[in-house]
Amino acid sequence: MSEDATPVPDTASWDDVAAAARSCTACPELVASRTLVVPGEAPLDARLLLVGEAPGAEEDLVGRPFVGRSGRLLDSLLEQAGIERSLVAVSNVVKCRPPGNRAPRRAEVSRCRGFLDHQLEALDPALVVTLGSTAAAWFFGPAARIGTLRTEVLHHGGRRVLVSYHPSAALRFGPRGEPARALAEDLARAGAILAAPGPAAAPEVGSAGSLPGGQR
Ligand code: URA
Repeated sequence: MSEDATPVPDTASWDDVAAAARSCTACPELVASRTLVVPGEAPLDARLLLVGEAPGAEEDLVGRPFVGRSGRLLDSLLEQAGIERSLVAVSNVVKCRPPGNRAPRRAEVSRCRGFLDHQLEALDPALVVTLGSTAAAWFFGPAARIGTLRTEVLHHGGRRVLVSYHPSAALRFGPRGEPARALAEDLARAGAILAAPGPAAAPEVGSAGSLPGGQR
């Protein structure tokens, strides 16, 4: 965890991480502009973790992830994919809304990194799906390209990870655009992976995240 972020003990539960995130004051600009911290949500039986970029305006007001337009699209795509909401935890790379919905800055992502690290440890999901390039880069580095990686089952920290588009891209390009089509297909694949019998975790390949062909 970066030095100035709120520390979280190694044995932290999901709720402990959420409490630490709520009291975090590491990013002065985000602290000044946020209404509520949005730590993420994890139902007790969650096996899938969806990771987005950062809360938007509606999430900032209610303190819950993906409740705005992107979230409503996500809910309908999850339903189409046959994935029960009780199996789905949702979090973001950055837990506070960047002002004006700008992209989170590298320093903000780095200060917030420990929260998502601890959420992964606490939840130990059978599968992670990253939504958008910020989340893909969090797991696999800045070279990660959604268009080329999304058809592969990747691994990070011994866990299976699928990389997909952010629902806001699906909204921007419309229901016939590539991001909407791909996101629906990727969530359907996530549903099939969760429904298949087999080990929850995949063996570790590489140190943190691994890309095909050894890219980082
Ligand atoms: N976009 C995100 O990346 N996360 C949210 O929680 C909402 C919108």
